[in-house]
Amino acid sequence: MKINKVKGTHDLFNDEARSYDYIELLFKSVANSFSYDSMRTPIIEHTELFQRSTGESSDIVRKEMYTFLDKGNRSITLRPELTAGIMRNIVENKLYATSDLPIKCYYMGPNFRYERPQQGRYRQFYQMGVECIGEDNVFYDAECIIMGYHYLTMLGLENVKLRINSLGGNISRNNYRKALEEYFSNHIDKMCDDCKERLKLNPLRILDCKVKEDQEIVADAPKISDYLTTEDKERFEYLCELLEENEIPYEIDEGLVRGLDYYSHVIFEFHYTTESGLNVGAVGAGGHYDNLSEDVGGPKMSGVGLAFGEERLYGILNDEGIDTHNKVQTDIYIMPLGKEQRQNCFWLANELRDEGYRVEVNLNNKPLRSQFKIAEHMNAKIGLIVGDEEIENDTIIVRNLEAKEQESVPLEELVETLDEIFGLVDHDHDDEEGE
Ligand code: HAM
Repeated sequence: MKINKVKGTHDLFNDEARSYDYIELLFKSVANSFSYDSMRTPIIEHTELFQRSTGESSDIVRKEMYTFLDKGNRSITLRPELTAGIMRNIVENKLYATSDLPIKCYYMGPNFRYERPQQGRYRQFYQMGVECIGEDNVFYDAECIIMGYHYLTMLGLENVKLRINSLGGNISRNNYRKALEEYFSNHIDKMCDDCKERLKLNPLRILDCKVKEDQEIVADAPKISDYLTTEDKERFEYLCELLEENEIPYEIDEGLVRGLDYYSHVIFEFHYTTESGLNVGAVGAGGHYDNLSEDVGGPKMSGVGLAFGEERLYGILNDEGIDTHNKVQTDIYIMPLGKEQRQNCFWLANELRDEGYRVEVNLNNKPLRSQFKIAEHMNAKIGLIVGDEEIENDTIIVRNLEAKEQESVPLEELVETLDEIFGLVDHDHDDEEGE
């Protein structure tokens, strides 16, 4: 019986796999340029970590976690996101005590949510993100958003829509929560069962309800901007000023609340619609948080971060026709003439790899004509042909596959010849030495 992949997961190969590599490589390079350092945390965590951080009222914890009992009867969860694990790591290993603050890190890897699979929504999906932890400073909030925007621009995406909102600090949020409780209590009997539960757990979650009739009630609900303290309002205004000064276009979206419980102050989402009209939902999102460290047993410590969804980024890049899947360029393709030459060629390939060349060697005894075809498919620049005669004379045939010219070269001069062809010889330096 054929075994298929699990629903909501996907295999990556050929162009798509190469694109993901590129998307990650560029992310790493942009994150590095903003001084975010690498951090890796486990895919499995104690279930309690997400209950306490992502929040009991979030859809993720209520409905979407892959949770199981391990053989030691511990409740374990496949991570639905990475921020909680990053904070756990910083708290557990007391990195805040031994590092300069803020701790700025980037990360990437798979996450798991039991959602209804659809375009841009998977049960296993890849995220890349950054966190900046240990300083409560609006500049870092702005820097994180600027980094995300900068990355999308570097990918070649124009017309990115950045939506932002402020949830304020604890005082603002509590006041707003009370106002929402009061408002929704008067309408809750007409609303869906999910909202009834959300009202008990966290009325803010109701603002995210996707049921059409409920959305009409949500539209008239109190707005957070009316409940921000003066200080929180000024903080948000200053953040907007920093974005403007750094030429980051944004829209304030008062309905934006985000589906995770740990946020305070600024929250944001990056959206994108392709020319053909494809919109896969938020391609990236994040926000500021003040209570997450204490939620996982650490000291009071604020942070800000964001995460991009790689499937969604790939979807829009592909739809826009932005080429992200350049094949790995093979420099040299080695072609043995006959079975006996394979061992020599195998050795030669590894020698040339040591010299820094990207080398492939034909090891399945194909006729020369087929080997040429493969070299062509691989876009190799140079073919090295090795037969009995070459071995006898300690020579090798170096064929320029683009110019379709070849010459016989003594083996001891091979690397020098290749360096010359690939432009790796420092002529200026040679001249100076000759003078
Ligand atoms: P999130 O909004 O849940 O935030 O996810 C971030 C991004 O991951 C989304 O914008 C989307 O691109 C992608 N994503 C989420 N769920 C799926 C899915 N089922 N299939 C495909 N892509 C998906 C977080 O996870 C926060 N940890 C972000 C953050 C970092 N906040 C502060 N720091």
